[in-house]
Amino acid sequence: MDAIQIIATGKALPKKLVTNDDMSKIVDTSDEWISTRTGIKQRYFCDGEQNWELAFRAATEALNKGNIEKEQIGAVIVGTGTPDYIMPSMACILQEELGLPSDIPAFDINAACSGFIYALRVAGSLLQDEARPYALVIGSEQLSTRADMTDRSICVLFGDGAGAAIIKRNPEKKFYGVWGTEGNRAALGCRGHLTGSPYIYMDGQTVFRFATQYMTNAAKKVLELAGFTMDDIDYVLCHQANERIIDYVRKQFKAPEEKFFKIIQKYGNTSAASIPLGLAEMDEQGLLIPGKKIIIVGFDAGFTWGSMLLEF
Ligand code: UT7
Repeated sequence: MDAIQIIATGKALPKKLVTNDDMSKIVDTSDEWISTRTGIKQRYFCDGEQNWELAFRAATEALNKGNIEKEQIGAVIVGTGTPDYIMPSMACILQEELGLPSDIPAFDINAACSGFIYALRVAGSLLQDEARPYALVIGSEQLSTRADMTDRSICVLFGDGAGAAIIKRNPEKKFYGVWGTEGNRAALGCRGHLTGSPYIYMDGQTVFRFATQYMTNAAKKVLELAGFTMDDIDYVLCHQANERIIDYVRKQFKAPEEKFFKIIQKYGNTSAASIPLGLAEMDEQGLLIPGKKIIIVGFDAGFTWGSMLLEF
């Protein structure tokens, strides 16, 4: 498969900013506990906004920044575990709201926090057979609707937001990526399958162990496939679930702090939105410039995992 090239990015956040001190007024917690255990300082929660509206704003920003004609979009895929409706998909709503062509595939992928990585790879394959040059790939989440706001072990961790990328194939470079699934329903999910409650359940320490091991191995495998070492890579963008997880992975590569880009402190864990939000922030900071090499790597409920090399 050809490499996937990111042409433009966009992001969107709900209006309501919630600090750790705000959370401590809802549940028995503190800024000190949340900051030291996770690195999170604040997050955004939807307050009247729907998930598809965040996705729409992020997508519009990416289309505008890339100066992309809507007629040139050949697929739209949304990575989300928190769609507004079981059907229609968020992608179908966006196809209508954005006025995208009607003879293109539009669908959601639920791979939890790995959703954006899965969606990127699927979109890249779809473009191999598509006359239109670009695909719109989004990660968008409204986790505040799935977090029990009386459960301090869960509600402080998550946030809402969306990130979008316009991608195209780069036939001059090869795609290097890995993905997979390691079935485990018990450690992380929405309780529906266990108790009928809609809220997120997590065995934090089991997930922590899985995350550190699988993200390290996935990034190592991508380096091996591409014939690079970590020294050849400019930035690594991990799924943002916990700063301690990101630091653990970084230490396995003996990489300097500045190589591992972080947004966890500002947004909390935004699941499938965390990597595209991170890419959009890197773009805003002028880091996604020609010649740069970035590894993205994620994991989550399922367990799902994935990683790929992005060259700019
Ligand atoms: O994208 C989804 C993937 N999710 C993840 O990657 C999360 C992976 N796991 C983690 O990041 C960590 O396991 C957590 C941040 C979720 C939890 O950190 P921990 O160091 O594993 O803490 P713990 O669950 O062992 O809890 C330690 C203590 C407990 O009290 P006791 O039993 O020691 O008295 C908890 O009740 O911390 C307590 N606690 C809290 N205290 C204050 C749990 N949540 C809170 C809270 N504020 N919000």
